[in-house]
Amino acid sequence: MKVKYSYLEEQFKDHRAIFNEIDKLIKTGDYTLGKPVQEFEKKFAKLIGTKYAIGVNSGTDALFLSLKAIGVGVGDEVITAPNTFIATVGAIVATGAKPVFVDVLDDYTISPELIEEAITPKTKALMPVHYAGHPADMPSIMSIAEKHGLPVIEDSCQAITAAIDNKCVGTFGVTGGFSLHPLKNLNVWGDGGIIVTNSSELRDELILLRNHGLKNRDEIQIFGYNSRLDSLQAIVGNYLINDIEDITETRIKWANKIDKGFADLKGYITIPKRKKNSRYVYHLYMLMVKDRDKLLSYLIKNGIEAKVHYPIPLHLQEVARPFGYKEGDFPVSEAQSKSIITFPGHQHLTEEQVDYMIEKVKEFYQ
Ligand SMILES: Cc1ncc(COP(=O)(O)O)c(C=O)c1O
Repeated sequence: MKVKYSYLEEQFKDHRAIFNEIDKLIKTGDYTLGKPVQEFEKKFAKLIGTKYAIGVNSGTDALFLSLKAIGVGVGDEVITAPNTFIATVGAIVATGAKPVFVDVLDDYTISPELIEEAITPKTKALMPVHYAGHPADMPSIMSIAEKHGLPVIEDSCQAITAAIDNKCVGTFGVTGGFSLHPLKNLNVWGDGGIIVTNSSELRDELILLRNHGLKNRDEIQIFGYNSRLDSLQAIVGNYLINDIEDITETRIKWANKIDKGFADLKGYITIPKRKKNSRYVYHLYMLMVKDRDKLLSYLIKNGIEAKVHYPIPLHLQEVARPFGYKEGDFPVSEAQSKSIITFPGHQHLTEEQVDYMIEKVKEFYQ
């Protein structure tokens, strides 16, 4: 049996409805910042529960523009986790600021306690990552942020509709940045991103920043960027946003089933603690396992496309050398990078495929 990691072929088997909308767009020529973008922004803000949503051209830019909007730049420090996708840190570096890493907890999200220890007079913002679709401990992070007067930008790129006590991630901080990359839970046909905020000042600034700082066709208010969400991508987003609850619920269903299936593999498999008041959306269904590399090869040999996100934490990447970190600085992230494995956990899996994955893992440890 084959269990593929990517589901795009199945997801877009019948794309006629999207093509019909694209046909209409072609007739209007409304390719940049057209009606579909405004429609998507409205729907997204409603989905997440914020006043505003601003479509941009990637999740990376959702973070970068958020940092620019709050004035982060050269000489500043931004605190984040070392176990994230490079884009989190890339966005910080692109502003000229320095990323300051702090270690994570057993659930892969940043440790609030360690954030507090890492704050210096240069700290300008906190950027927790809701990694794998696991909500970071936002109540604790927000109370530290408030105590130190620091804005929080949430990297929610992997966590559309993840929530704590029914409050979506991305709504705790001043902004939340989301990715619409093809393999995200809510996806488009290429790159796309969106920022949520409840602040009208930040919304106005972000609207300028994403479109060259143009106040109108002829007047430029600030120097900005070209980072618009394409109308074409918004059409795909508008179509799929109607399915996001089903997509998420299916991912949750498979995660719960696999959690149960592995419950008697204690000592071999560590399932992170699932907090009762949190909604995990399982962008990555990721566990810590014994003999990870051997298990990975075994799964691949048996047709299961498991992955590792990621085998090298960012502070140990060559490119991060100028930040002065070394092995041993973040023991939890480092240990996790050696034991984590991501199983296919998407909405197009079948019951048989999920059973097969559980069976193959059990077979490996027997
Ligand atoms: C945690 C995290 N942050 C940021 C990004 C950047 O998003 P994008 O690929 O849309 O630029 C991603 C996307 O993979 C991500 O996983």
